[in-house]
Amino acid sequence: MRVVMLGPPGSGKGTQAHIISELYGVPVVTTGDMLRDAAARGTGEGLTAKKYMDRGELVPDEIVNAVVRERLSRPDVERGFILDGFPRSKAQAEALDRILEERRLRLDHVVHVTLGDEEIVGRLSKRRSCPRCGAVYHLESKPPRRSLICDECGARLVQRDDDRPEVIRHRLEVYREKTRPLLDRYAGMGLIREVPGDTPLEDLPRTLKSYLG
Ligand code: AP5
Repeated sequence: MRVVMLGPPGSGKGTQAHIISELYGVPVVTTGDMLRDAAARGTGEGLTAKKYMDRGELVPDEIVNAVVRERLSRPDVERGFILDGFPRSKAQAEALDRILEERRLRLDHVVHVTLGDEEIVGRLSKRRSCPRCGAVYHLESKPPRRSLICDECGARLVQRDDDRPEVIRHRLEVYREKTRPLLDRYAGMGLIREVPGDTPLEDLPRTLKSYLG
């Protein structure tokens, strides 16, 4: 199973990607997490990426394409993968085409997660993330068992630097300009499956299974 998650920031791509991962037993490849991890480790590319991420801009295609190419060469993705946050531009979509062609592979689905802007801004202001393992919570809809402590690894949860309202609004503009046009591209290939980002969390496994088969 090879899946791309597309949708505006905060629509629920990561949340749905992890449910698909559990349902079908394939790993999630999240470019945002890989870039944040590189920034935390202080690599040259990571520090460059952080400057763009903190402003809500896309990290340059050359950096992201290289990170994804390396990740998709590892053995654990041989049975499939869920790309969460990639591709996000025409150049990235073309880079993904090349990687897939070289390996004679095809995408099975592009899940388009939909949600309105106001709901996104409200939702992201209440998101808390684990800086160690990447687990994602919401103060109301998915709170951790202990206040601000990650259920998975016990680290202290944080609010992402780019989850401030003014940066969220800019991320939404960048999404509309650079990423949303990819929907037409993948619709032309017959790959789009539209899933509302406000589907109740407990219904998501059944809903996603009905779309993905
Ligand atoms: P990235 O980390 O990918 O962020 P994003 O795309 O903006 O998406 P988010 O992680 O903010 O949200 P999401 O849609 O995954 O929602 P989530 O499931 O967390 O990218 C960050 C930055 O990195 C970019 O701005 C860019 O700078 C850079 N970058 C990354 N990839 C790049 C690329 N390919 N090229 C260039 N630059 C790149 O859910 C949000 C909240 O809602 C959570 O609190 C969650 O618990 C809650 N929630 C989710 N679903 C539900 C539901 N059904 N019901 C109730 N609550 C829900």
